[in-house]
Amino acid sequence: MPKLEPITTRVIPWAFEGGTLSFLDQRHLPAEERWIVCADAAETATAIRCLAVRGAPLIGVAAALGVAVEARRAVRGPASDFERALEEAFEVLLASRPTAVNLPAAISRMRRMAGSTAGADPGTRAQALEGEARLIAAEDQAACLAIGRHGADFLESRIGPGAATILTHCNAGALATAGIGTALGVIRALGARRPVRVFADETRPFWQGARLTAWELSRDGFDVTLLPDVAAASVIASGRVAAVVVGADRIAANGDVANKVGTYGLGLACRAHGVPFVVAAPTTTVDLATPSGDRIPIEERSGDEVLSIDLPGGGSVRLAPAGVAAFYPAFDVTPAGLVDAIVTERGVAQAPFPASLREQRRG
Ligand code: MRU
Repeated sequence: MPKLEPITTRVIPWAFEGGTLSFLDQRHLPAEERWIVCADAAETATAIRCLAVRGAPLIGVAAALGVAVEARRAVRGPASDFERALEEAFEVLLASRPTAVNLPAAISRMRRMAGSTAGADPGTRAQALEGEARLIAAEDQAACLAIGRHGADFLESRIGPGAATILTHCNAGALATAGIGTALGVIRALGARRPVRVFADETRPFWQGARLTAWELSRDGFDVTLLPDVAAASVIASGRVAAVVVGADRIAANGDVANKVGTYGLGLACRAHGVPFVVAAPTTTVDLATPSGDRIPIEERSGDEVLSIDLPGGGSVRLAPAGVAAFYPAFDVTPAGLVDAIVTERGVAQAPFPASLREQRRG
């Protein structure tokens, strides 16, 4: 059992020190802990697009920090260019990835801060923007802790006593947030109360489960076992799993949940076998302006990411014959009807979700 009281993690995937913004480059984990520096908003957007920085809450935090670093850079140029640099920063960051609503939510906050300081000199505005970005990160860190505690309380009300096996998909952990994670925050909080074993889906083709969840949980002393994605349904059916806990990229007003592709199948398997299916996400992931899941933009990434595997020492191996194409929707939507609970920093939303999610957003 991990010794993590108070609930914490050794993993912090970002730094903004002395004006230098850097991120733990998640493409190289677990082989190497390599950091990349983002000198401006365009480089931050590139880091988000290529998945060096990923996970809905961290994408939001990174976008805010990307604006802050751009503002710092623009202070050194002519004052007349400052406003244009900010506007370009908002646009390039907004275009980096479409599904996680945390990104446009963070950019809206940065826009509001830019607007409210419009009369001030660029240096003062850059400072205010950096303060706002740090606040967004601090709020996410606090939200993760609260999600962890609410989620552990909910699970304890639903599962039997003693050691528990929780299955998760993708990486909704410290590597995906500014704190202990959302789904992994719940697992960390439960793990502080009783022995917990984690089944981590591999999560093809970027291997967030194999490379990232397994890395951060084992680093923090958790008992983590990797599952091929294709084994999840039968393992759930076997009765070995007490609950499935996943994160989210966007939750529509009716409770439909967009998350890493493969999540929907887990929801179906859980419902078929009476296993609780729990979504953990901050309220910044709840998008009341999107009425239902069919309106959530689902990112389609290049089929090349499915057709070949990158090798640890460099280079790649092609898996399918030349000439065969691949289709890669990076997210899917789990209908609200399959979701037992949506845990946010404000508590636990349950059906009927339209009312309970509105309540959570109100705080
Ligand atoms: O493509 P990714 O790795 O950014 O996808 C991440 C997920 O789907 C996570 O489950 C989600 O963002 C929640 S992270 C706390």
